[in-house]
Amino acid sequence: MQGEVDQSFIQALEHRPNLSVPEAQGIPLIDLSVLNSPDNHNIDGLVLEIRNACKNWGFFQVINHGVPLEKRHKIENASRKFFAQPLEEKRKVRRDEASALGYYDTEHTKNVRDWKELFDYGVQNPTLVSASSEPDDKEVVQWFNRLPEYPPEFREACEEYAKDLEKLAYKLMELIALSLGLPANSFCNFYRDQTSLIRLNHYPPCPVPHLALGVGRHKDSGALTILAQDDVGGLEVKRKSDGEWTRVKPTPDAYIINVGDILQAWSNEIYESVEHRVVVNTEKERFSIAFFFNPAHYTMVKPLDELINEKNPAKYRAYNWGKFIATRMQSNFKKLDVENIQV
Ligand code: SIN
Ligand code: FE2
Repeated sequence: MQGEVDQSFIQALEHRPNLSVPEAQGIPLIDLSVLNSPDNHNIDGLVLEIRNACKNWGFFQVINHGVPLEKRHKIENASRKFFAQPLEEKRKVRRDEASALGYYDTEHTKNVRDWKELFDYGVQNPTLVSASSEPDDKEVVQWFNRLPEYPPEFREACEEYAKDLEKLAYKLMELIALSLGLPANSFCNFYRDQTSLIRLNHYPPCPVPHLALGVGRHKDSGALTILAQDDVGGLEVKRKSDGEWTRVKPTPDAYIINVGDILQAWSNEIYESVEHRVVVNTEKERFSIAFFFNPAHYTMVKPLDELINEKNPAKYRAYNWGKFIATRMQSNFKKLDVENIQV
């Protein structure tokens, strides 16, 4: 079997998935409906659930989140139609040196190729032109949306979905602020000039799911991720309690939320970004849509002042988010030309 597949997809022995892991509810399931009720001032219970989930898991699912189902279906359908096209059509909107956004079919995680293709849409395009804060910086990434001609509703589906997901992200950031003992609006300074992204993922069936991964183990580098997975399943999260991989069973219409590296730094490690990966299978293709909530490119990421004191000194030196993404994107471009293999 291994002979059929390019070696670049093959994981080292210790990182290959155990396909017999049963699906479990695993991560906490949190009902946000109290936010929509008239007496939503009584949210202490919810805030505590969020705190426990962020601390013990770094991951949770939410239901009754307020994102209209028809908007989710619209973008899911647009994504399916886009990925069903021939490769040469998709590559017309390919990510390259001119823009870090668009279609991409040679994503690598920790130098092993992922069994997937993706499309990135920038939520605040075209506000952001460069991912660096310094005009003469060589580590610059251009950032504008390249939209496919087909399907025709693609742009509208992304625009509408971005608005709804931004709202959900703000609600969650408020709850997270409260869960850290801070005022609800503590993170709202980071909402301006966001570099948030919508990422459409497509994982085709894979002849060697015991050797390759849809996405290799990684932590998310942004602030917060809000993921819609379909009913196929395959997301695995590293359980903090024992370091074992646990499969996240799809809950219809729920969103999976996880703490990213930036929130880990902002919270001075009260919350931690947790490793996860995606397992593929021989029969079913899988689709997911991630909303990566990220601050402006000029943001210096560092622990919030309110969370540091003599007893709890800052565990991070400030780093520039724009520089971080520019460096990461450029290392991806270097691989782009060499590895031109079809999924
Ligand atoms: C990711 O973590 O990058 C993707 C998650 C998923 O598709 O389930
Ligand atoms: Fe991820």
